[in-house]
Amino acid sequence: MTTATGETTRRLGTAPDPGTLDAAERMGVDELRALQLERLQWSLRHAYDHVPHYRRAFDEAGVHPDDCRELADLARFPTTSKADLRDNYPFGMFAVPQEQVRRIHASSGTTGRPTVVGYTERDIDTWATVMARSIRAAGGRPGDRLHNAYGYGLFTGGLGAHYGAEKLGCTVVPVSGGMTPRQVQLITDFTPRVIMVTPSYMLTVLDEFEKQGLDPRASSLEIGVFGAEPWTEQMRREMEERAGIQAVDIYGLSEVMGPGVAQECVETKDGLHVWEDHFYPEVIDPITGEVLPEGEVGELVFTSLTKEAMPVVRYRTRDLTRLLPGTARPGMRRMEKVTGRTDDMIILRGVNLFPTQIEEVVLRTPGLAPHFALELTTRGRMDHLVVRVEARPDCPAGRRTEAAAEVTKGVKDTVGTSIEVLVVDPETLPRSMGKLQRLTDRRERA
Ligand code: DLL
Repeated sequence: MTTATGETTRRLGTAPDPGTLDAAERMGVDELRALQLERLQWSLRHAYDHVPHYRRAFDEAGVHPDDCRELADLARFPTTSKADLRDNYPFGMFAVPQEQVRRIHASSGTTGRPTVVGYTERDIDTWATVMARSIRAAGGRPGDRLHNAYGYGLFTGGLGAHYGAEKLGCTVVPVSGGMTPRQVQLITDFTPRVIMVTPSYMLTVLDEFEKQGLDPRASSLEIGVFGAEPWTEQMRREMEERAGIQAVDIYGLSEVMGPGVAQECVETKDGLHVWEDHFYPEVIDPITGEVLPEGEVGELVFTSLTKEAMPVVRYRTRDLTRLLPGTARPGMRRMEKVTGRTDDMIILRGVNLFPTQIEEVVLRTPGLAPHFALELTTRGRMDHLVVRVEARPDCPAGRRTEAAAEVTKGVKDTVGTSIEVLVVDPETLPRSMGKLQRLTDRRERA
């Protein structure tokens, strides 16, 4: 919403009735810390006793679960990486006998073996509980119809959202991703109040509405719960204005559970509350591994507190963020919106650049659509970044060169590096049906 002075204000949603919150959401910090310590001691012991990898790693680091007497002692335990999960492919990180594993998910990863995760019946129930809590925090209520366009299958998005929505008491429309014209038809005909989908695919769905001559603002949708990939405040504004919805952020990762590890509350939209009764967060210096104080940016690390089938101890997410004190749920810390992963960071002639920094600039440039793709090449032994951005259908031809120059300048001013920007025709760049892969690396290898 833009005020008379041209400032953009955030339109906030309605908080849930406090009586509907889970007990943990109402806990004070001290009560929560006591619960976490008790659960952490159980989880470390469970991992040590049942997963050879953790027994070996703890022994090598000279720590034992009994050494964890307070929460700060966790810092003495070794971290776990995606490589550890791959080395124990497929089921080596499981802590329960096979017959207790009720479900398996896997994340494909870009190279090599997928990362496999498992859940007991109780884990599936915990997951549904935190997901239901997330949807409620986003503004969803029992009785709402919910269009779920996260992909169903090995990806945790579809089934994770599905079980949570059912647990909250919503009517789920399990559409999964793809077949975009049908997404629009089902939204129009079934009149859902909530949509769950990746932000990049939401844009594709919005484009399809317009292609069919429909105004997405006139649809029944009031709330979008967007995650699984980084997105910016500019993107929030774009989606809120185009669709007439509240756009809120949901975070999670398969190794820790799936979606529903942390959720933004619609009444504050100020970062994501970590559901700390189940997931213990730390932020570390990605180089030294040292735990950073609240408020400092580093790599997010999670320890599961209640997971049975596949406990994780100090799992390095590679996501960059910082922890902040709770607001809408005062007992639970928030994590700032994740706008970069160590993996997505482009080092361009010595300057670190994240795709979200380009998104910010593109979205504030008149005439440009929010669809862009990045290509890294080598030019004269130097890395060179080409950004292709689509023009909006109504962008006059003469405006394109100007817009390209504005993006180049905007990135130079904010990030400090030079890039090449090409404005291309509408609907010429690839669309995602789930997570969008923005970067193609065509650099020559030395
Ligand atoms: O993406 C789980 C999920 C599904 C989350 C649906 C939210 C909604 P993975 O496929 O294992 O799991 O990928 C996890 O995706 O480490 C982040 O890098 C990124 N990610 C997830 N949510 C967000 C978000 C699911 N809200 C990886 N903002 C994570 C930024 C996100 N990045």
